[in-house]
Amino acid sequence: LVHFFQPKTLLGQHVLVSAGPTFEAIDPVRGITNKSSGKMGFAIARAAREAGAEVTLVAGPVTLPTPRGVRRVDVASAQDMLLAVEAAVPQATVFVATAAVADWRPANAATQKIKKDGSGQVPALAFEENPDILARVAASERARSGALFCVGFAAESHDLAHHAKVKRERKGVPLLVGNIGPATFGQDENALLLVDAEGTRELPQAGKLALARQLVSEIAQRLPR
Ligand code: CTP
Ligand code: CA
Repeated sequence: LVHFFQPKTLLGQHVLVSAGPTFEAIDPVRGITNKSSGKMGFAIARAAREAGAEVTLVAGPVTLPTPRGVRRVDVASAQDMLLAVEAAVPQATVFVATAAVADWRPANAATQKIKKDGSGQVPALAFEENPDILARVAASERARSGALFCVGFAAESHDLAHHAKVKRERKGVPLLVGNIGPATFGQDENALLLVDAEGTRELPQAGKLALARQLVSEIAQRLPR
């Protein structure tokens, strides 16, 4: 029942969340993917809904239940995720990009299963770069006019504060959130570093839903009123 008592800080807002990994096909039975449980993105979708927002959740392949009251669109590849996100942007007032999008996809995925030919030869894989969903949305007219507030995430292995600041500017987003500490994939707890134009602020180690609620309130405070 705790959600019943959450302050409705996002009433009238429409929050779009990307979550989970993407899956990039090599052939009909194989592919490459990223490590991501989707838990943080799903927690943010839930917290935004509790805060009174309409919520659209564009999810890569994950095994998580849809938060109550949230509209979910399932996708596999980065290209599909881009299409689903772009379809939702015209209604959205906030975009939170938590997805671990594969940076590259196999070029020319085979339409039939690649077979071993018995010679021990391995297939050569060529890659091409995937679209940067967050950068594209952040460059859209809707974001640049101030009608859509964009939030990026970053998981870095080292120098988080430095990389997060650089990434915030490179992506052109007002708020970038770094995952603090060792890989938090699949864990239920996390700690976050918020980077905006003013500086940095840490949200200390807590459960992902508790952190999501704090992040939602940080976002709400930054929206135009
Ligand atoms: N992102 C995205 N589309 C991509 C790559 C990243 O929308 N093709 C988003 C992620 O959802 C995240 C942010 O951009 O919110 C940062 O992702 P990250 O992988 O940390 O940054 P990259 O720009 O891909 O740089 P790198 O992986 O080299 O650190
Ligand atoms: Ca990346």
